[in-house]
Amino acid sequence: MEQTMANAGVEGKTVIVTGAGRGIGRDIALLMARHGARVVVNDLGVSLTGEPGGDSPARETVAEILAAGGQAVANEDSVAEWEGAQSLVALAVETFGGLDAVINNAGIIREVAFQDTSPADFDRTVKVHLYGSFYVARATAPHFIAQKSGAYIHMTSSTGLIGRRNLSAYAAAKMGIVGLMRSIALDMAAYGVRSNCISPAAATRMSPVRASAEKDEAFRARVRGDQVAPLALFLASDAAAAINGQIIGVRRNELYLYNQPRPVRTLHRAEGWTVEALAAQLIPAWGPSFVPLEETQNVFAWDAI
Ligand SMILES: NC(=O)c1ccc[n+]([C@@H]2O[C@H](COP(=O)([O-])OP(=O)(O)OC[C@H]3O[C@@H](n4cnc5c(N)ncnc54)[C@H](O)[C@@H]3O)[C@@H](O)[C@H]2O)c1
Repeated sequence: MEQTMANAGVEGKTVIVTGAGRGIGRDIALLMARHGARVVVNDLGVSLTGEPGGDSPARETVAEILAAGGQAVANEDSVAEWEGAQSLVALAVETFGGLDAVINNAGIIREVAFQDTSPADFDRTVKVHLYGSFYVARATAPHFIAQKSGAYIHMTSSTGLIGRRNLSAYAAAKMGIVGLMRSIALDMAAYGVRSNCISPAAATRMSPVRASAEKDEAFRARVRGDQVAPLALFLASDAAAAINGQIIGVRRNELYLYNQPRPVRTLHRAEGWTVEALAAQLIPAWGPSFVPLEETQNVFAWDAI
């Protein structure tokens, strides 16, 4: 028991947290630093939709960590650029002499119906979430392989896993991240490297739940990024060595282990399938097993607001 407790930390580890100037990423960076990690705080400082912001949230988070006696360095590269990811990882290695965990958290959101989604909306959203997660993970891979250890934690979303209207690019990116997470877990397990997803909930900027003005304050107090941070810290620690390739949801005080797609029904026809046979048999056989067209709020038993 004591051994497990001793390993359930990040003391002395170097951790990159992307998009850590605000929201959930900031809470993860602060908790990591409080537990003795050396934190590379990445944030480009953009608006919710990805427009240039003019401020430097990365430096604000770093100032907060340093003021509390922790160790941190700011990075303002875009994770949506391969060169940005390269220089982010290089900064971690140069500043702290190594790298132990990556939290792929940076993101933007553009809320628009699929039929009105522009190529630019789709491109920007997928670039930050999916390409960003790939770029930072890929830039880190040689270090993790050389040291035969490392942990990736990627942020997915119930918007992709379950569904939510008007967020097609975001949902596509978040499901893409699940495939990326699984592939990294499979390809790098032999090197002692782990890769998992968190599906978080927090009343931060990117919450897909648009609370009404009067509910905002109560919502912010109830569902917070600091409730997500302990899971990220645990998954980065050696105590989570047995967790690889998993999707874990966290929403206030609840955790969820998500299933991952597997065939749920089979249908065999010795003569092979014709259009007529499909028309006659598929719906009667499988109709009751079809996944309903639900959104996240139809699936969770309680209302976070
Ligand atoms: N808040 C929720 O309820 C919720 C739910 C599901 C998933 N998520 C995921 O959790 C993560 C954090 O969400 P949040 O609500 O804390 O977001 P947030 O908007 O508060 O913070 C995200 C940060 O990412 C930064 N960023 C954007 N593009 C960047 C880029 N190209 N390079 C570097 N930094 C960049 C932004 O400047 C911002 O500070 C996201 O991946 C989001 O999709 C959040």
